[in-house]
Amino acid sequence: MTETPVLTVDGPGGAGKGTISRLVAERLGWHLLDSGALYRLTALAAGRHGVALDDEVGLAGVAAGLDVVFLAEGEATRVHLEGEDATTAIRTEQVGDAASQVAALPQVRQALLQRQRDFCQPPGLVADGRDMGTVVFTDAPLKIFLTASAEERARRRQLQLRESGVDASLSSLLKEIQARDARDMQRSVAPLKPASDAIMLDTTRLTIPEVVDRLTELLTERGLAPAT
Ligand code: DC
Repeated sequence: MTETPVLTVDGPGGAGKGTISRLVAERLGWHLLDSGALYRLTALAAGRHGVALDDEVGLAGVAAGLDVVFLAEGEATRVHLEGEDATTAIRTEQVGDAASQVAALPQVRQALLQRQRDFCQPPGLVADGRDMGTVVFTDAPLKIFLTASAEERARRRQLQLRESGVDASLSSLLKEIQARDARDMQRSVAPLKPASDAIMLDTTRLTIPEVVDRLTELLTERGLAPAT
């Protein structure tokens, strides 16, 4: 039996990983792992159960016991935590911030490892995160590291927020992005960095469809997916 192919898509926040991974998975009919959502869910569940953000053992217990279901619904995926829809709740800045703190704890990362690997099911998996190629799927046959300038990522975030009716200044968004990058890159466990065999792709001047096309071409060239 041939192995289930995995495409890993790592990179900093705002580089387009989420949208691009979802579109590639949809085009190929592959599964999608949004690993950031698992860290966000851990943070949200911890808050609900009164587990402090510096209680590593308690947080690892929350991560190991996460009662979560991902439901594909048309183009979107909805996520249920303990039987309740948490799709919107995990996307707030506050949960994002708490997620970045819990993600720095080795025991939390360890507790989520097998759960992430279990997403690897035929016909294939697109795995979106920070350490997909360096830790979780080290044998993946295609690893991509998506980047974009911090200024461009701040601009994209501003547009996204504007669409949901929120006005935020470019300079404050840029500062937040730089702070989050520094925290993700400097943590001692699974820091954000490209795998040694990753292909670097700068999306600053590329459109979403151009990046999706490029990734599917790379998969096809390597015999990992049929031509689309
Ligand atoms: O991609 P995101 O914003 O949903 O991720 C939320 C947080 O989790 C972010 O601070 C980075 C962290 N994260 C991680 O450490 N490892 C992953 N594989 C995915 C996300």
